[in-house]
Amino acid sequence: MVSVRAPPPSSAELFTLRMWKAAAFKQGAEVSRKHQCNAASQTHPQPDSCWLSQHSQVAPALASRVLRFCSSSSSSSSDDQRSYQHTYSPSWTHALAGLLAGTATVLAYGLYHHNAERAETRKVKTTEKAAALSIFSQEEVTKHRSLEDGVWVTYRGSVYDITEFVAMHPGGDKILLAAGGALEPFWALYAVHNQEHILKILSEYKIGDLSAEDLKKQQTIKSSDPYSSDPDRHPVLHINSLKPFNAEPPPEILSESYITPSVFFFKRNHLPVPRVDPASYQLHVEVLPGKVLTLSLEELKTRFPKHTVTATLQCAGNRRSEMNKVKQVKGLNWGIAAISNATWGGTKLRDVLLAAGYEPNVAQWARHVQFEGLDRDVTGTTYGASIPLNKAVSEEGDVLLAYEMNGEELPADHGFPVRVVVPGTVGARNVKWLGKITVSAEESRSHWQQNDYKGFSPGTDWDTVDFKSAPAIQELPIQSAITTPADGAVIYRSAEKVTVNGYAWSGGGREVVRVDVSLDGGKTWQVAQLRSSDKGQHDKLSPQPGRAWAWKLWEVTAPLPPEAQELEIVCKAVDNSYNVQPDTVAPIWNLRGVLSNAWHRVKVEIKEDQNEE
Ligand code: MTE
Repeated sequence: MVSVRAPPPSSAELFTLRMWKAAAFKQGAEVSRKHQCNAASQTHPQPDSCWLSQHSQVAPALASRVLRFCSSSSSSSSDDQRSYQHTYSPSWTHALAGLLAGTATVLAYGLYHHNAERAETRKVKTTEKAAALSIFSQEEVTKHRSLEDGVWVTYRGSVYDITEFVAMHPGGDKILLAAGGALEPFWALYAVHNQEHILKILSEYKIGDLSAEDLKKQQTIKSSDPYSSDPDRHPVLHINSLKPFNAEPPPEILSESYITPSVFFFKRNHLPVPRVDPASYQLHVEVLPGKVLTLSLEELKTRFPKHTVTATLQCAGNRRSEMNKVKQVKGLNWGIAAISNATWGGTKLRDVLLAAGYEPNVAQWARHVQFEGLDRDVTGTTYGASIPLNKAVSEEGDVLLAYEMNGEELPADHGFPVRVVVPGTVGARNVKWLGKITVSAEESRSHWQQNDYKGFSPGTDWDTVDFKSAPAIQELPIQSAITTPADGAVIYRSAEKVTVNGYAWSGGGREVVRVDVSLDGGKTWQVAQLRSSDKGQHDKLSPQPGRAWAWKLWEVTAPLPPEAQELEIVCKAVDNSYNVQPDTVAPIWNLRGVLSNAWHRVKVEIKEDQNEE
């Protein structure tokens, strides 16, 4: 499908729009009142009553072009939107846009940037509005579905005029989905948006209440919970977000078994878990443009040889909470357990690409393999990501279309019936509930490939970030962490020894060759024992160079230093390229809190036994 996009506004136009917007802000209160009067008197607002058209002869045309530009930018061009937003949109608008559109990252960009000056302007406006709150019928609200007629929404019985917000927000195409109706179904998808400070921003747009009769009707049409068919989860998991479901196991569980049982494997979902019927499941594979190979689950299992690969998956945000301690970042506050290790069974992606027409010539024009999940947001946009073509087709890349995890069919949370497992590569590219594979000259246009999961300098903030300037994360850096003892744990002097356990892993198939552990904050070190199997079992043959996909668990037992009241236990790993972890977090801090791999530190108190005191 060819999509036609309006040309992006020039910088001169953006400047004009900025000036126009500043003027509009000054007159906003007056305009809002006018809107209400029109509505309250049940007059259908005429185009000339739209505040957009009142302030400038130039601005409405430009605004409409801006909106056309934006609405013709599907999510696939969110990077354009991003730099555009950056040019002139106030950051708080992103927060509300996130609310309305259910776009988590938009929310992330804006949540904490509420501009004090604007807040002041709004306070005045809100006070003025409060004096003139009206009762509206649903019919009236429904009439306000465009910039020309005004954009109204309802939430919990209140009516909000968000025209001003939409006009200034370039992601208008998504926001308009909620126009003229209730916000509840949108917020049901992203419960994270339903927060007090967000509601406060929304409250500033309140213009009245929904009539009691219509509110009753709305309440009887109970909005269905898109997460209602999410699977049951193990109660021991630490939940970082319930809807969508994101959780990690307690760290000590990770080092208890070399293969993480599926129920404890960390879970990272951006959307509701799609329920896929295995009997009607189809995987679409397009190697040569227009030539699509469609495979059923049965065909995927029987037409190709089955391979098993033990591989560790790690979320880019693992250990983000440590970055948060340096300075607040945007994202789920993962501890050290957004990483797990499983044995995956399935078909090699390479075999499927060959069956779909891949041959060496394709590499002359193609560079990437894109994946699309079957999970969708309210706009129908699916989760997506891509990996380099050479990783996908290499014999040694070991990329699997997995239909088994730890010897059983994939659990729903982990991508049933088929997911991609890209060993050595950041979790985000391991697309679950796989629906489509496309060989392409371009990376996936997905938001998660273009505008997320990228690393930046500690000096880059949300006002200066340009997502185009950084490559999408693929191979992850060297990582290790201490799983026991936990930070703040107590050891009694009579124990005489301390045993420290943890995991270590590196991306890109680089093998962990050593883990150093210190009990005194990094002054002195000892080398930990590494293992690639469960205790009591023999380690398998060491992996081929460049194909070390699975983590190593490690352990050190050391005598308690006689005088110490406290231990600062530190670990750091080394891979076979002699990559090491940085010693502190601050120099690798980045605004999204990804790639957090500084030395891991836990403090442990040594207590004298009571009978010895
Ligand atoms: N695939 C789809 N379709 N939808 C998603 O939300 N999340 C990604 C990736 N694949 C995701 C996805 C991210 S960010 C990670 S870290 C891994 O899945 C997590 O995989 P897991 O839940 O099996 O641990």
